[in-house]
Formats: sequence, C-alpha cells, structure tokens
Amino acid sequence: MKVVALVGSIRKESFNLKLAKFMQKRYHGRLEIEILPIRELPHYDQDIENDPPEAVRDFKSKVAAADAVLWVTPEYNYSIPGVLKNAIDWLSRVDKVMIGKPSMVTGSSMGMLGSVRAQQHLRDILFSPGVSSPIILGNEVYIGAVHEKFDEAGHLNHEPTIAFLDQVVDNFIAWYKQLPAK
Ligand code: FNR
Repeated sequence: MKVVALVGSIRKESFNLKLAKFMQKRYHGRLEIEILPIRELPHYDQDIENDPPEAVRDFKSKVAAADAVLWVTPEYNYSIPGVLKNAIDWLSRVDKVMIGKPSMVTGSSMGMLGSVRAQQHLRDILFSPGVSSPIILGNEVYIGAVHEKFDEAGHLNHEPTIAFLDQVVDNFIAWYKQLPAK
C-alpha cells in the first residue's frame, strides 16, 4: 500500500517526524510510506487555488497518487499546528484530492495526553465536505511523554508503544483491505 505521511511539526528534532520515520522503517514492505514535506507550502490563498505554485501542485499530485494518508500530529494550543491545517486547506480545494482517500490518524506530545485534542480536531477536519476522508474508528494512537520513549539516537525504544503501534497498523491494513475497490 502506498502511503503518504503528513507530519504536523516542521522542526528538525520533531518527535512526530521521528515517529513517522520509525513507522516508515518498521512497516516497510506492508506500507510504503513517503513523508511529504509541508514546510515549503505557501499560505493557502483562494485567489491562486486554480493556478497554484509548483510546490502545491507537486504536493497535491503526490497525495492524489497515494492509497492512503498517515497523519502524525503534535498538539499546538489544543489543536493541530497551523502548518498542517494549511496543507489540508490546499488539499480540500479544486480537485479535492482527499475525498474518499483513507486516513490513519496518529500523533504524540510531551504531555500525558499524547495530542488527543489535536487528533480530535483533525478527525473533525477530515470529515469536512472538501476532505471527506474515511478513517477506521476506534483505532487511535496517543503517544504521551514521547520524549521519554525515544533514545538519544532518535529511535523509538518503548516496547509497549511499539507493540501497540503494530496492532494499530494491522487493524488499519485489515480495514483498508475490506473497503470497496477504489
Ligand atoms: C505545544 N505543546 C502542547 N502540548 C500539548 O499536549 N497540548 C498543547 O496544547 C500544546 N500546545 C503547544 C503549543 C505550541 C506552540 C508548542 C510549540 C508546543 C507541546 C508539544 O506537544 C510538544 O512540544 C511536542 O513535542 C511538539 O511536537 P514535535 O515538534 O516534537 O513533533
């Protein structure tokens, strides 16, 4: 399955980016995960949505070509970071490349709640008419105290979290396979 990962943090040492990279490596062969950079996307602007800059066109075509989207988001002020919302706003317009495309929502934070409020907002956004992305219900991933679960080298080394992620990915793949043919 071809999956694009959208990571809500653009900082170099992002734990969410590390999580996306961990998943890319661990599930290689079952999920071909490409992490799409969103840092260079301009601010969404309705005036240019029909003829957007190349960065936006490339981004949208990569999402369009994927079988599914993996979201990996931190929580900023009880919601998703603006940079991620901006990316979604581009995806939701004109050719609306997210419609019908399955999503898997994950995320982490240094606090105990593991980005739960951000992910709840993200689910609301994914259900908006311009996005309309099906998600598997109940298959939720909230990694709290994330800074204690990665080692110095940036590897996830918390076995219960790894076992949990394995289960969530198994559930996601099984759910994806039973969706009507795309
Ligand atoms: C945060 N953080 C945070 N954490 C949380 O649990 N709830 C929140 O509302 C917020 N709000 C918030 C706002 C801003 C502007 C920043 C910079 C941070 C903490 C945040 O989850 C933590 O820094 C994560 O580690 C950020 O993710 P990355 O960059 O490590 O992927």
